[in-house]
Amino acid sequence: MIFRILEEQLGQKAKEAKETAKAADQRFMQLALALGRRGLGRTWPNPAVGAVIVKDGVVVGRGWTQPGGRPHAEVEALRRAGDAARGATLYVTLEPCSHFGRSPPCADAVVAAGLARVVSAIEDPNPDVGGKGHARLRAAGIAVDVGLCAAEAARDHAGHFRRITDKRPHVILKLAVSADDKIAASGHKPVVITGEAARTRVHLLRAQCDAILVGIGTVQADDPLLTCRLPGMAARSPVRVVLDRALRISGDSRLVHSARETPLWVMTSDMAEAPAVVKLGAAGAQVIRVAAGAPAGLDRPAVLHALAEKGTTRLLVEGGARVANSFVAAGLVDEIWLLRGPDAIGADGVPALDAMPLDAITQSPAFRVRASETLGKDSLNIYERA
Ligand SMILES: NC(=O)c1ccc[n+]([C@@H]2O[C@H](COP(=O)([O-])OP(=O)(O)OC[C@H]3O[C@@H](n4cnc5c(N)ncnc54)[C@H](OP(=O)(O)O)[C@@H]3O)[C@@H](O)[C@H]2O)c1
Repeated sequence: MIFRILEEQLGQKAKEAKETAKAADQRFMQLALALGRRGLGRTWPNPAVGAVIVKDGVVVGRGWTQPGGRPHAEVEALRRAGDAARGATLYVTLEPCSHFGRSPPCADAVVAAGLARVVSAIEDPNPDVGGKGHARLRAAGIAVDVGLCAAEAARDHAGHFRRITDKRPHVILKLAVSADDKIAASGHKPVVITGEAARTRVHLLRAQCDAILVGIGTVQADDPLLTCRLPGMAARSPVRVVLDRALRISGDSRLVHSARETPLWVMTSDMAEAPAVVKLGAAGAQVIRVAAGAPAGLDRPAVLHALAEKGTTRLLVEGGARVANSFVAAGLVDEIWLLRGPDAIGADGVPALDAMPLDAITQSPAFRVRASETLGKDSLNIYERA
């Protein structure tokens, strides 16, 4: 009888210890994910990874992929942990690399540092890695658990995954619409649709993207800068991309004027005349020729492929109406940020998706709402592929 009670008590204790360890794993992986997100928009063409090293329940090292993609998160965390890494656990949001790229394999560095266990959120689809990183760790006698918070990691690494598997960036469409689904006033006159909180949110999103894209119609109507203008974050501005089949962009536009401070890539076709190309190049912009599409504009898959080739993993499409329409119609949008202001513009305003009703997004079975927020008087709904 006493034995049975003791056995039950021991069983209960073991169960509690297991649950505590599971909760700790969750907590440390969440920390690694949060650290990894610091790099979004800055590490391309590499993924933005986060890493945490824990010994006896204490964080002894933290790291995230540095701007430009190097050093990798694991190397940063190992550097901070020093000797404390021996016998510790590494939490990492993506499989450690196992190949010699621009830096030596992280899996080797983890083995050399003497870690006892690695908890990895998800396998890297990059064929150079693809399970080989985990295998190398296991071969060295390290305990490896894969799959904790995998869905969150897949979302954070969506740009890297999309670029590897589909040779295009993860495409985020942002639309700021009025209460009656318009994005500009009659005659394409710019109009303030959303307030300060929404603007801040959009600029933060810009900072987390590698590139931001608009059509030449928006450049002509708004003369935008497309930079991140939050205090102290100017350096986080993405590359600005304009779709401009016949190279109509004006040399006097703010985009061209600022091309030396913040990169500007103008995507065009064979229709572009050589002198215009030379003039843009002299102003500091890069001209990228891709195939023209049918019946109009540039070929969207060719545009995305060219951007991926240049290393872009996260692309923010900011409009205007025709560009938004054409990317939605082609099924090339992965995520939509729909901001809605409280006021109507009127029937003569510019419809958000040109000839396509906004229901094509909001009522589409292809998308589901991932998150909703109130931002002052405005609302934000974030849609992702269902
Ligand atoms: N509220 C918002 O969130 C928001 C955001 C941005 C813009 N806007 C508004 O949107 C309006 C501009 O919209 P818009 O429809 O006139 O112009 P747009 O969508 O910015 O640009 C359309 C032009 O881009 C070029 N293009 C090249 N490749 C394309 C492709 N694959 N698909 C579509 N277009 C392609 C085409 O000109 P070529 O054939 O000459 O290349 C096309 O006419 C402005 O009034 C602006 O204020 C609002």
